[in-house]
Formats: sequence, C-alpha cells, structure tokens
Amino acid sequence: MTVTIVGAQLGDEGKGGIVDVFGESADVVARYQGGDNAGHTVVHDGETYKLSLVPSGAVRGKVGVLGNGCVVNPATLFDEIDDLREMGLDPEVRLAKRAQVILPVHRFLDNVAEDVRSDDDLEVGTTGRGIGPTYEDKVGRRGVRVADLLDDECLRERLEYLLPLKRRLVEDVYGIDLASTDLAFDGFTAAEAFDVEAVFEQYRAYGERLAEEGMPVAAGEFLTDRIDAGERVMLEGAQGTLLDIDHGNYPFVTSSNPTAGYAATGSGLGVTTVGDGEVVGVVKAYLSRVGSGPMPTELGRNVELVDDVSEVEGDESAATEANPEPEDIATYIREEGGEYGTVTGRPRRVGWLDLPMLRHAARASGFTGFAVNHVDVLAGLETVRVGHSYDLDGETIETVPATTQRWGRCEPNLRSFEGWPEVDWDAVAAEGYDALHENARAYLEYVADEIDTPVYAIGLGAERDQTIVREHPFE
Ligand code: IMO
Ligand code: MG
Repeated sequence: MTVTIVGAQLGDEGKGGIVDVFGESADVVARYQGGDNAGHTVVHDGETYKLSLVPSGAVRGKVGVLGNGCVVNPATLFDEIDDLREMGLDPEVRLAKRAQVILPVHRFLDNVAEDVRSDDDLEVGTTGRGIGPTYEDKVGRRGVRVADLLDDECLRERLEYLLPLKRRLVEDVYGIDLASTDLAFDGFTAAEAFDVEAVFEQYRAYGERLAEEGMPVAAGEFLTDRIDAGERVMLEGAQGTLLDIDHGNYPFVTSSNPTAGYAATGSGLGVTTVGDGEVVGVVKAYLSRVGSGPMPTELGRNVELVDDVSEVEGDESAATEANPEPEDIATYIREEGGEYGTVTGRPRRVGWLDLPMLRHAARASGFTGFAVNHVDVLAGLETVRVGHSYDLDGETIETVPATTQRWGRCEPNLRSFEGWPEVDWDAVAAEGYDALHENARAYLEYVADEIDTPVYAIGLGAERDQTIVREHPFE
C-alpha cells in the first residue's frame, strides 16, 4: 500500500518529520515532484539532517526513490549523499531515468528571470535552484533526462540543441553579455554553463557515477514491483498546495504539482494504487510564507521584514500579554518556531492558521487524514486565532478564490481560541492525546470538523517521539 504526504499550506509545514514518523513502517520513500527547492528536516538521535533531494526516509535506512516527476541537480544529489555518508549513514537512493536534469543554465536563467521580474516588483522569490526553467524545458520537450546522462551520443545531441537556444535567449532577449557576468553555479561560470563541451564532460561524468552506484531505475516499474511484493511505499510531497502550479496562487507558485494527483504521475504508480492508499495533509498550527504573494491572515501585514528583524519588529515578550500587537505575536511565533529560511536565514512571514486554505487543500488532494505540527510553538499565547472564512467584495467565502488578485483582497474573519500553556512536551507526547491541554484539543477538533478530516498526528517538537500519533496510516 501507499501513504502520500502532502503539504497543505505554503511549504515548510514539517513534512520531513511526518515522513519520518509514518515512514517508520515503510520500505521505500519516494519523491514525486520538485527538486532541491525543498528543505526537509529530520532529527534523529539528536542529529539534525537537512535534506533537499534525498528522500527523508533515507536517514532511517529506507530505500529512497526520486521519481520521474522530479527535477534533479546531480551536483546537489551527490553532495547530499556524500554528506550523509560522512555522517555515518549509507543512504540507498534510486533515481528515475525519466526524471529531468537541472543544468547550470537552468540555475542561471532562474536567477536572471527573477532579476528581470524584480524591476517591476513581480519576482516570485524562487529558491534560485533552476526549478522553473527545468520544468519549462521539460514541457517544451527539449529537456535532458537522467537516462540521457548514460548515453553519450544522446546527451551531446540534447545539449547541442538546448544550449545554443538558451544562449540566444540570454544574449538576444535578456541582452546579457555572458563574458562579463560573475554569476557561477555548480562549478560553472556563466560562459561555461552555455558551452556544450564543458557541460557534456561534467554531466557524462555524473552519468557514470550514477551507473556505478546502480542508481538509475524505471521508477514506475521499480515501485510497482515493490508494491506487488507486499512492500509499503511512502510518497513524499515537497512544497505545498498553495505553491502548486495548478491549485496554488499563480504566479507565486513553484513549477510542479505538490497535490496528491501528481503522486501517481510523478512516481509512475497507477492512480488507483495511490488512491487505494492514504493521503495525509501536513499542516503547521499557524502559517508561514517565504517569497511573495497574498497571505490574508498574515500578522503585522504592513510591517516590512528586513534582515535585522530586531530593529523594526515587535517585542517578543509582549506577545503573551492581554492585547499584544500583531507584530509582537509574529515575532513570538517566529522566534519560538525558528521561522527563518534554512538557506538565507531571512525571517519568514508569519500568520494565523487559514481555514479556507485548508478546505481548498483537503479538496484538491482528498486527504484521508492530516497531521498538525508545531502545536507547541503557539503555547504561551493568551489567545490563538484562526482565519475561519474570508470577506471578499462584500461576500463571505469559505475557500480560496481562483485568482491571486481576488485572494489578495480577502480579509479574514478570525475566530478566537483560548491559548494553552507551555508544558513538558516530551511528557505530553509520551502520554498521548488526552494529556494535551483541553484548549489545544478544542482547537484541533475545530480544524478537523471544518475540513472534515481526522487528525492522525500532532507534532510537539522536532524529534520522532515528540509526535502524538492518533492513527497510523500504514496500520
Ligand atoms: P519544502 O518542501 C517553502 C517557494 C519559493 C517561491 C516559490 C517558487 O521545504 O516545503 P521555486 O524555487 O520552487 O521556483 O520557487 O516556491 N518554495 C518553497 N517555500 N517550502 C518549500 O519547500 C519551497 N519550495 C519552493 O520560496 O516562493
Ligand atoms: Mg522548506
């Protein structure tokens, strides 16, 4: 059977931790979309593993598969595998031959395009990993796939078509002189990134290493065989529903489909196989966002976030007083939850849980259950609020509008819940659901009712045993 894990919000919901908890009883953990734009954290025996490409299960000795729906940067993949080996692990990773390869040109174009958009304040705030340009070439039918790295003639042919085309785009459309930019990615200068010979040599070498390590597979066949043999497969989504290219807040989205339908397409398993299993939505007890786009429940919406947050923002300790300012609450949650970008260290935008967003996510993916993380982070606040519905142009609506313009005009109708105290979370996690403060339980039960989906797990900290499991989807 399969269990699919999907982000229900805007990414960073703590999917890595939930994959770790439920993946305990899986044999294989497969990613079905995205690439190294993801940042999944697994804490095990006091050691923190930050993974962007290697599926989270690899930390616990599961077979990790990167499905055909992924875009893969071999430089990142090998770095990550080498780092894990240095930490004493021996990750077993398979890579779909049909997956697309991120090349240095893609990273170059990602950064150049963001730069151009920023002149009109239209930047998406991408992770700069080349995700969008790689998916563009995939649907443009000119991408390089993993299998091509294993075939010199094919690789050369693909690069000879792709790179001159991209060079014309950069030079003639963007008007960039490659010799005079100092951008460099994965060991390639801008000029080298467009040089067929240089790219060919490096990428065929990656292909050799992939083959030597026995990594390339036909993912659909590989996974189907494992399921037929009675094994359990976990499908690990990256990003989140509102970052979905179809169901997210276009154009402030990523270029793939994190929602559950793609778990079939992006892994090569049949939809009926995925649909026969469980689909678990991962929710953070509040909301955070990196990058641009609307966020109706944002706290301190008009406060500009700059890198030195201490100077512009609220007073963390004031958040627990009777009538705290929204920016004080945001500062509190950001500090308690460590809501800073893992790569850039920049503060994330923070807001209350948004129910219209969760109703939309539950429908788009058909959640059979959901997990709520970071319930401990909100502890200490006198009042916890939730965006129950939106007011939009004089109407009350309960789900996310189809356009980002309309979403940007939504004003949240907030519901208030009495807060819960800071306690010994390890003890609560060990005792189980009934040990959770009644106010926290009331909050969780309200969410479960509203999205008509049972709560399978409650995260009270980063470690596996700091999660209360009410229902295990594999059991
Ligand atoms: P995990 O898996 C949060 C956001 C970027 C940007 C938009 C497009 O850790 O939850 P991209 O580089 O994908 O073209 O950027 O998507 N984004 C994420 N935000 N968590 C992620 O992954 C994200 N991956 C991409 O910030 O707004
Ligand atoms: Mg992340």
